[in-house]
Amino acid sequence: MDVVSVIAVFQLLRAASGFSSGAPQDFCQYENLQDRNVKMVPGHRGTEAMNTQNPAGYRIIVGPEDSNGGRRVTLKADPGDYFRGFFIQATRANYALDRGDRPAYGTFRPADTNSQARRCRSAVGKVGGITHTGNNNKTEISFDWEPPRGCDLGDIQFVATVVRAYSEYWVDVRSDVIKPSGFIGDRGLLCQLYVNPYSKILQRRVLSALRNIQTMQQRRGTGSGSLATQG
Ligand SMILES: *[C@@H]1O[C@H](CO)[C@@H](O)[C@H](O)[C@H]1NC(C)=O
Repeated sequence: MDVVSVIAVFQLLRAASGFSSGAPQDFCQYENLQDRNVKMVPGHRGTEAMNTQNPAGYRIIVGPEDSNGGRRVTLKADPGDYFRGFFIQATRANYALDRGDRPAYGTFRPADTNSQARRCRSAVGKVGGITHTGNNNKTEISFDWEPPRGCDLGDIQFVATVVRAYSEYWVDVRSDVIKPSGFIGDRGLLCQLYVNPYSKILQRRVLSALRNIQTMQQRRGTGSGSLATQG
């Protein structure tokens, strides 16, 4: 790892966007952790999620693992139903939606023009979500999801907010639990932080490790050239 990675690891990626062209950025981005819209609730004034009145008529179907540990995922409306908007993340299995330290995992690639990937702020590695591009009626959308290489995430679940109309939306629509896939084994320090991004202990350990690497590199760069002369 080099100094550039030290910067990249704690980079804050931000962009502006409106509701009609996808979920707002604060589903993924935040200045302060407490401002993050961890529940993924649309900011539709005077409305409430439909969950308690009607069960959601939507399913998230997760395909088999490919050779990179990636999966094809489909959000599908029940027959006769449809949706207009959505936001989907991968998260820890059976972990309450509103827990402030709920992580988001992996990167997303749209399968067609109905969806667009979103980069989320993350402590380490690439983390994303996926949202709609327009408010046309849709019966299903698909995308590809990829976990980080060489990092065992444990059990995960896809979780969606699905919008049918301004005052008709469902939160916490979940896929089945996906068992560990791809690399399974001991977690390195960066992988531990990826899995538990809000752990203060892990954040401190990673920062300290990165500082040590930086110091070593500075010594190598400005020192007596002992490494270079050793050939
Ligand atoms: C979407 O579907 C609803 C219900 O069938 C219908 O009322 C509405 O006109 C449709 N919207 C568009 C843009 O097709």
